[in-house]
Amino acid sequence: MPVDLLPTPPCAELHLHIEGTLEPELIFELAARNGLDLPYDSLEDLRARYRFTDLQSFLDLYYSNMDVLRTEADFTDMTRAYLRRASAAGVRHVEMMMDPQAHLVRGVPLSVSVGGVWAALARSEEEFGISTELIAAFLRDHPVAEALEVLEELLAMGAPIIGIGLDSAEVGNPPSSFIDLYRRAREAGLRSVAHAGEEGPPAYIEEALDLLQADRIDHGIRCLDDPDLVDRLVREKVPLTVCPLSNVRLQAVPGLAEHPLPRMLEHGLNISVNSDDPAYFDGYVDDNFRAVQETFGLSRAQLALLAANSIEASFASAGRRAELL
Ligand code: HPA
Ligand code: ZN
Repeated sequence: MPVDLLPTPPCAELHLHIEGTLEPELIFELAARNGLDLPYDSLEDLRARYRFTDLQSFLDLYYSNMDVLRTEADFTDMTRAYLRRASAAGVRHVEMMMDPQAHLVRGVPLSVSVGGVWAALARSEEEFGISTELIAAFLRDHPVAEALEVLEELLAMGAPIIGIGLDSAEVGNPPSSFIDLYRRAREAGLRSVAHAGEEGPPAYIEEALDLLQADRIDHGIRCLDDPDLVDRLVREKVPLTVCPLSNVRLQAVPGLAEHPLPRMLEHGLNISVNSDDPAYFDGYVDDNFRAVQETFGLSRAQLALLAANSIEASFASAGRRAELL
């Protein structure tokens, strides 16, 4: 590592799937604790499968591995492990997504998944110095009716969520299918984000803004295919939560050197740096900052801008944002 690499500035992490923080060691530990047989002989055997060709090849392993999450304590342990690591990475505020539907379909009730994650988040400021918000993400490759049912259940139980998100397989599952879900969330006073333009076309980014009224776009890198959309995103200062190492590992870009982050900065887009699924993509937020710094030689001012963008685009209170800036 070059000696002149700058430390990651204190930042907010806005694009993080808590289930994507499940490290191979913890997968084995939870399987043993829950008396489950894993389809892998060893850690090495599991790690050998972390070679992805696209989003779906990752999602297959991601959904399979989360089957070890059975009890509230499992969810709490996973979340605490992330918070501990994120604290070392310089994260001071996190807005994490979780996939409640992915647990419900395996028979794990919302009280267990949401309750387990929340138990860790509730103590995060005190334990790790990280303020937190929770976002319930909905699976876009499942029917909208299922998402609506789960949202109603979350609202009825008073789940401590600040907003909703949209994730899973993007291509062929446009934001337009989820208008009713986002309308209901808005009526309930929730904020919203949506994955768009990771593998899908720029039109999905427009749909997420115009039809879902999303407050932030997760990824959004494919906006560069449409100059008019770039102009709009700059003008409207739409936050895009970019995940460089994720894009490389899922082959959304050919390599880090070809990642559009420097071009996005040049355009004046409102981007932040995030880890997405750090256990799967070899990198927490500091690893992502280091990688783009090494590859693109970003200046101290550019790093500070990326960090400030993350804080300003967060759903934290004005007071907390001022504290963090
Ligand atoms: N993209 C879409 N869905 C996801 C991802 C991602 O990177 N991670 C977990 N669910
Ligand atoms: Zn994501």
